[in-house]
Amino acid sequence: MGDTQRVTAAIAASARLCVLTGAGMSAESGIPTFRDAMSGLWSRFDPAELASEAGFRADPARVWDWYAERRAGVRLAQPNAGHRALGEFARRRPGVLTLVTQNVDDLHQRAGNTGAIQLHGDIQRDHWLEPCTRQPGCDAAAAAPGRPPRCADCGNRVRPGVVWFGEQLPPASLLAAEHAAAACELMLVVGTSGAVWPAAGLASQARRAGAQVVILNPALSEIDAEADLVLRGTAAELLPRLLAG
Ligand code: APR
Repeated sequence: MGDTQRVTAAIAASARLCVLTGAGMSAESGIPTFRDAMSGLWSRFDPAELASEAGFRADPARVWDWYAERRAGVRLAQPNAGHRALGEFARRRPGVLTLVTQNVDDLHQRAGNTGAIQLHGDIQRDHWLEPCTRQPGCDAAAAAPGRPPRCADCGNRVRPGVVWFGEQLPPASLLAAEHAAAACELMLVVGTSGAVWPAAGLASQARRAGAQVVILNPALSEIDAEADLVLRGTAAELLPRLLAG
């Protein structure tokens, strides 16, 4: 039995499956991976400079424009065969899959995994940059248009609802992800470089708790050593085969 058949059989026999996805999951939907996203127009910027509060405060319009371009890309993108396979699996075997994603797009949700845990937030959401202590607080509906929009009353700026470098992950999301990693029998790690923590640590957490860890990635990742098995392939190629059982 080959590696793919072994993993397919393990998934079919699993009562508690955790899947952790990264930007590679959406690559075949046309959304550049984070490290690739810094190619082309944005290649002259350091990702941490754009995806950070300091970068936003230093040049709000530039960061706002970068997210606006990425949001437009997400709206145009469609879930790929890998997203669809995960959505179908959740429908076919309710309660078995916990999906944890580092991605800020909504492709898992649009493919049917509405309960996906978003560790790094949601690019379609906005927050206020400063906590607003006034009553009533800043009203998003009345925000003055701009790059970024501002509160018409106090000038507070709108910022993207994603986790920036150096920021805490949403505690409830991280806790749910860690519980899923500790409880699963099998973890698939799909399309992540394993470069960003604490998300990257979920694979070793699962392994320490006794789960089998399988990595799906066309290239080497920083956490390959945490895997029992590495399948060299893409999300849209491998997931439909592995989850069909
Ligand atoms: N299928 C599966 N994996 C792929 C594919 C594909 N079609 N194409 C690329 N990959 C892999 C790459 O080999 C790489 O290992 O996806 C990974 C993408 O890595 P990153 O761009 O680092 O994205 P990610 O691991 O999700 O980054 C983690 O860091 O940049 C921050 O907050 C951002 O959530 C992001 C986090």
